This record gives sequence, structure tokens and C-alpha cells, in this order.
Amino acid sequence: MAPFPSASPHILAECRDGVLWLTLNRARRKNALSTGMYAALAEQLGSASADPAVRAVVIEGQPGIFSSGNDVLDFQQNPPSADGGGPVMDFLAALVSFDKPLVAGVDGPAVGIGTTLLLHCDLVYLTPNARLRLPFVNLALVPEAGSSLLLPLLMGHIRAAELLLLGDFFDAERALALGLANAIVAPDELHAQLDRTTRRLADQPLGSLMLTKGLMRAPLRAQLETVMRAEGKLFVERLGSAETVEAFMAFFEKRQPDFRQFAAASP
Ligand code: COA
Repeated sequence: MAPFPSASPHILAECRDGVLWLTLNRARRKNALSTGMYAALAEQLGSASADPAVRAVVIEGQPGIFSSGNDVLDFQQNPPSADGGGPVMDFLAALVSFDKPLVAGVDGPAVGIGTTLLLHCDLVYLTPNARLRLPFVNLALVPEAGSSLLLPLLMGHIRAAELLLLGDFFDAERALALGLANAIVAPDELHAQLDRTTRRLADQPLGSLMLTKGLMRAPLRAQLETVMRAEGKLFVERLGSAETVEAFMAFFEKRQPDFRQFAAASP
């Protein structure tokens, strides 16, 4: 077991037997992803891609919490830059282009990017406690990580629209039925399942694995990049909107937002 240097104390990185385990480690904030965590994850994925000793990567949270998504305070204090750069975009680019098997294990809530990052994994395991949610519209934002393209492709427009436009939590059974996960395993089995699966992946011929993943991802690559650019531009614009200011104030004041005060074309 070799601890890998991590740029953030909130991202633990350990390589065991050819498998890099990336653990989200900010339970006090429900594993909300800060800019420092995005930067560390981007760096880890970049190094894992280049390191011949790494044959597969796992992303996991803590027992009872995968991730509460983007740090809502960071949306205000360290917003993504208008030119489309910065740690969030670096992480998304590294995630989308990651060329080795990527496996996720989810116990507890997986909100926002906690759910959309799963769309870029190759294998996903949930526990019955997993609760997924895409609250972009609820925060007066727009979807990210290419989810406005990938969700309708995966499950059809009306199912994707329900998840994105209403933004309710949905459970592991529904996520499995929608094609977002491979299996549901007991919470105390999750780690063993991830370990078993990634050991099997690490035993497979890496060259063939990488080519196969590349072939599966290639047809969508250009379209995904275009959509992610469009999502990113709108996301940054929305952060300055009156609707989003109301959504964030409501979040911190622990109350329901009042969006009816704004006209449809509110900036
Ligand atoms: N960003 C910043 N802080 C967050 C956060 C986030 N995304 N999610 C949770 N926190 C903070 C809470 O504000 C709370 O802080 P406090 O102790 O100072 O009040 C603390 O983490 C614990 O969260 P809490 O909501 O009390 O935990 P919970 O177990 O009741 O619920 C969640 C867990 C994940 C369901 C809930 O925290 C949640 O929905 N978070 C917001 C998710 C979100 O909107 N993310 C943005 C997606 S784009």
C-alpha cells in the first residue's frame, strides 16, 4: 500500500496492487468539493494516466456520504472563471479524458457533481443508502459535466428531464433502473466489491482495456466537448443572476427560495 502525495488533505490517494484509490475526505462538509479538491483530483487523474504502475482508479467517499457536490460557498468566493479555465474545468477535462478504467462506489448522498461524475466512470456500485440528486435548476444553475447530453442519451429525454427539471433525490434502485449503476451492494460489502472488481481489472491486459474504453468513448468525444463548453459558459453567467443569488441565500438561511419574484428573462 503506497500513499500518493495529494495536493489536498481532503483527497486521500493510495495505490495498492496497481489500483489508485481516491477517497473524498471532507466529511464535516459532507465531502463538498472545494477548488483545492478539484485541483488535487485533476492532478491525481493526470498522474494516474501517465503512471504505468496504475492500472485502474477508484473514487469513493466516506461511509454514509459520497459527496454533497460543489462547495456552495466556493460558488461565491472562488467562482469558476469566465474564460472556462480553473480547477473545476481541469478536473472535468481530466475526468472526461481519463483513459484507464475508472470505478466509483457510492454510499449515502451523491449530489450535483457527485452524481454527474458517475456518468464518466466505467463501473459504478451503489449501496441501498445511496441517494442521488441533480439540483442544478433548484440552485438556478444549469447542468455540468456534459450531463445535459449524457443523461438524455442514457435514459431518454423525459426521464432525464424529470431528474434535471425537478431535481429531486432518487434512490439506488431507481439509479440502477436508469442505467447509472452496475449493481447495489450492502454498505459493509462496498469496499470488498470495489476491491474485487478493480483487482480483476488490474489483471486484465491494460493496452486492450485502454483501447476498448477509448473506442467506447470516442464517438461522443467532440460533441461532449462542445456541450461542456456551452454548459460552462452558461453556468458562469448564471452564477451572477438574481435567481442564483436568491438560491444561495436560501441555502445558507436554510429556507425555501422564492423564484416567483423574478420574471422569466431575469438576468
Ligand atoms: N457546500 C458547502 N457546504 C455544504 C454543502 C455544500 N455543497 N453540503 C453540505 N454542506 C454543509 C452544510 O451547510 C452543513 O454545514 P453546517 O454544519 O455549518 O450547517 C454541513 O455541511 C452538514 O450538512 P447538512 O445539510 O446538515 O447534512 P445532511 O446530512 O442533513 O444532508 C446533504 C446532506 C448532502 C443531503 C445536504 O447537505 C445537501 O443537500 N447539501 C447541498 C447540496 C448542494 O446543493 N450541492 C450543490 C450541487 S451543484
